[in-house]
Amino acid sequence: MKKTVVGLTLATLFATVIGCAATSTPVSMRGDAIDSADRAPEVKTYSEKTPGVGEQKLISRTFLTQPPLVPHSIEKYVPITFEDNGCLECHITDELRGKKLPKMGASHFSKTVKAEDGSPAVEMSRYQCDTCHVPQVDAKPLVENAFVGVTKK
Ligand code: HEC
Ligand code: HEC
Repeated sequence: MKKTVVGLTLATLFATVIGCAATSTPVSMRGDAIDSADRAPEVKTYSEKTPGVGEQKLISRTFLTQPPLVPHSIEKYVPITFEDNGCLECHITDELRGKKLPKMGASHFSKTVKAEDGSPAVEMSRYQCDTCHVPQVDAKPLVENAFVGVTKK
């Protein structure tokens, strides 16, 4: 009886030691030592390209129903407030100083409400443009991935 208990205890001890040796030391994906304090990520600046020149290439969409990414700087137009929505100055129409620009689609206009001058009014769920449309920084992915987007609109 005593021998069996000792045998079992020893077996458990060996299993634990072997188990520990087989596990390699964890390595942080950020390259930091696990026990060191977090480093703040590098600050990236958004694209500074001004809109309205027709020179910025539109960014291909990567999935159906994706809100298109903003290819120009938005600094001058945020924050969007109740009184002032700078995005609408351009995107409510499809032309700016004789050049074509992407106009907001029909989904962005109310089907029932009209503006005071009778023109189509912006649907309120689409008023805060930057909840869906975001500007871009030149950042490389932190980890490799094999995502392939559907590039057709
Ligand atoms: C001065 C005019 C102007 C203003 C203001 C403006 N845009 Fe633009 N926007 C453009 C033009 C022109 C393009 C086409 C690319 C270019 O030439 O920069 C564009 C492109 C875009 C696109 C890409 C559309 C697509 O089909 O890929 C989005 C999204 C967008 N703008 C959102 C915004 C948002 C959100 C704001 C406000 C924060 C804003 N824009 C303010 C002129 C403007
Ligand atoms: C709730 C999310 C959402 C909000 C808020 C929003 N959009 Fe969009 N936007 C989309 C989606 C999704 C699309 C692509 C499909 C479509 O046209 O509805 C789009 C498309 C666009 C396009 C390209 C239209 C085209 O036909 O290619 C422009 C330009 C645009 N939005 C500008 C704006 C502006 C300016 C605002 C603010 C006044 C705004 N959006 C608010 C989701 C949004």
